[in-house]
Amino acid sequence: MRQAHVLLDRDFTIGDTDPRLFGAFVEHLGRCVYGGIFEPGHPSADERGFRRDVLDLVRELGPTIMRYPGGNFVSGYNWEDGIGPIAQRPRRLDLAWFSTEPNTFGTNEFVDWCRAAQVEPMLAVNLGTRDGDAARNLVEYCNHPGGTAWSELRRQHGWDQPHDIRFWCLGNEMDGPWQMESKTAAEYGRIAVEAAKMMRWIDPRIELAACGSSGRNMPTFGAWEETVLEHTFDHVEYISLHTYINDYQGDTRALLAAPDLMDRFIDEVVAIADAVAAKRRSPKRIMLSFDEWNVWYRTRRTRAARVKEGWPVAPPILEEIYSMQDALAFGGMCITLLNHADRVKAACLAQLVNVIAPIMTETGGAAWRQTIFHPFADFSRLGRGSVLRTRVECDTFAANYYDPRGTIDQYFPIPAAPHLKLAAVADARGGLNLLLLNRDLQGELSVEISARGFGALALAQAQQLRHDDLTACNTAAAPQRVAPAALKPVSIDGERIRLTLAPASWNAVQLVPA
Ligand code: AHR
Repeated sequence: MRQAHVLLDRDFTIGDTDPRLFGAFVEHLGRCVYGGIFEPGHPSADERGFRRDVLDLVRELGPTIMRYPGGNFVSGYNWEDGIGPIAQRPRRLDLAWFSTEPNTFGTNEFVDWCRAAQVEPMLAVNLGTRDGDAARNLVEYCNHPGGTAWSELRRQHGWDQPHDIRFWCLGNEMDGPWQMESKTAAEYGRIAVEAAKMMRWIDPRIELAACGSSGRNMPTFGAWEETVLEHTFDHVEYISLHTYINDYQGDTRALLAAPDLMDRFIDEVVAIADAVAAKRRSPKRIMLSFDEWNVWYRTRRTRAARVKEGWPVAPPILEEIYSMQDALAFGGMCITLLNHADRVKAACLAQLVNVIAPIMTETGGAAWRQTIFHPFADFSRLGRGSVLRTRVECDTFAANYYDPRGTIDQYFPIPAAPHLKLAAVADARGGLNLLLLNRDLQGELSVEISARGFGALALAQAQQLRHDDLTACNTAAAPQRVAPAALKPVSIDGERIRLTLAPASWNAVQLVPA
């Protein structure tokens, strides 16, 4: 059996996790809104049309912040279409997903839904087809108490108190040619800084994220971040990152190694942001908002394919069905985010319901948990606290990850991926939480952890997600096919913890002071 030795100390921390690290994303895309979170007439819907079965699953999943309304959708969105009496709202062609947008759900409904789900709303503004003027009006509509045309309009619409939305994204993936009115870095930098200035003049408490690259494989990656931050450095708190990993090759080992490229991506963006700071001799540190991340490849479609389908309302698109293997890779991404808690201060799993999502629904029918639901729930539940530096000694494997997305096709070598990928979090009550991924597909992994600075520890909970069949999925008919079970054996002797991890398994362990 392979062995792994881990050393950690309560005093040696990477950083505290920001509650916003555990966010997700709702886009007007497919059945994420319509038939997902919002379905008037569904047997479980409340008087506002919010599906209670979905709300229950969202609370169990544990996201903390929710990005809205896109995504690609936002680059053509007129936010004014989604407010006021529903019967008077316009139907529009959505050029991001070649759908018809009925606008029966908009900003106010989203904020109400967030309150019901107990999550913080995060809004993105349209810097594609629109500019700083529309963005500042939206801030005024949402956050200004009253006495002006936009704020009084909100009150007239039935929302007397300001929404007090703090976190704002300055557009979405503006480097991507697929985006409506994509921009060069300099064009975007100029628009973003002017929008940022006006938005903050209206509400100085807001926090702003500039768009980074749509992915690490974009040809402009690096230069884009540098130019955008040269323009926006003094006016934003965050730069965004997006990553979707894939298994186009049918190479499970490469898929499971891919989260290590996300570690590299984060380090690179931090280096660029800090280089911009250094040129200014500035002590300010730009933080990272990883506001789209997931596994996604089976349901990607070309624009030509979408055009052929006409202009449906809420079509069942991007409904990726996640396997056991995907859940493992997804868990690796959770570990990556935790291990950069010092700089990644917000992150959004893309997306929440039906569209590349942890929660699936049938329109008019049931809701259930996809495989990736489970690692996310562990990540959110056990990830709160101080993430610890860990020294991990174990065998590594080499992989060659292929990513044909973006505009450069290439292989990304990962020469030494440790079989054990791990995050350790010291919580505020003196406990130690461990998230452990065994990336060895064939062998069990015997893990011995020497913890220091905790005193004697006792086991509160240990769970494992695994399946003999790595292609196993959860469906409406078999919603529990892939579900956590007890992890055994776990032995604890003071601060020494011994675990045996099954091959290809995700493991979540909670230890409390004895
Ligand atoms: O999450 C799906 C899409 O992926 C988003 O709309 C876009 O921002 C990204 O390319």
